[in-house]
Amino acid sequence: MYTGLLHTHTLVVSLFLMIYLVKTILLFAKPTLLESFSRKTRILEIIVSTLFLLTGIGMALQTPSVNVGIWFWVKLIAVFASIPLAVIGFRKANKGMALLSLLLIVYAWGVSETRSPRMKKLDYFGSLGPAEALVDVNTERASEQYDPVPHGKALYTFYCVACHGSDGALGVAGAKNLAHSTLDRDATKSFIRKGKNAMPGFGSDVLTEDELDALVAYLKVKMTGQQHPH
Ligand code: HEC
Repeated sequence: MYTGLLHTHTLVVSLFLMIYLVKTILLFAKPTLLESFSRKTRILEIIVSTLFLLTGIGMALQTPSVNVGIWFWVKLIAVFASIPLAVIGFRKANKGMALLSLLLIVYAWGVSETRSPRMKKLDYFGSLGPAEALVDVNTERASEQYDPVPHGKALYTFYCVACHGSDGALGVAGAKNLAHSTLDRDATKSFIRKGKNAMPGFGSDVLTEDELDALVAYLKVKMTGQQHPH
């Protein structure tokens, strides 16, 4: 359900951006064509904006814990500020207003993609879990007492619990139950790196290779009951 909403939302937002972009280009380059273009796309625009709103509201209501933060309100304000600007801008052929409206929509898209008003993805990753999770855990792979499982547990609590829950079964935003995962170690690692649908990819700027190994060791022991090789 959530994943379907997400795909529909992405599709209608892309269409919406394309319509806005063409209208803005026409306003600047061929204002005489703008009116007929607007007339021809009017129905499409109404459908697209309605779906834009409904799918967005649907996702926010389903997963307020991970999908609504300061960035969400900033995005919402940018989207809603851009609408009257666009309406007046295109109707009165005011280039400044039309351009500002397009910039606001593009900004809202950037905020949404990064889940950060500064458009810095790392802000989002740092806000997923309690910072205390990472305190008092041995993270030095080279040290003799190092154990990847508690290290992985701390990372899991910090980065993953918001969607997967402490037992892996929370299922926020269409998250799979990790206890039922059939992915092997390598596939799990590349899945975490790349992400899929609502799961963000945890790149090497977020998780080091050692951290990724620790996480997967924890997942295997805790979620699927396998032993990890020391
Ligand atoms: C914002 C929510 C979110 C966060 C945070 C998140 N995940 Fe996920 N995760 C998902 C979703 C959604 C899926 C299902 C993706 C799909 O297949 O459509 C998923 C799927 C997975 C899978 C694949 C399971 C399978 O067998 O298909 C693994 C493994 C996984 N997550 C591990 C992690 C780990 C480890 C972390 C923390 C580093 C993490 N996830 C953080 C949402 C999240």
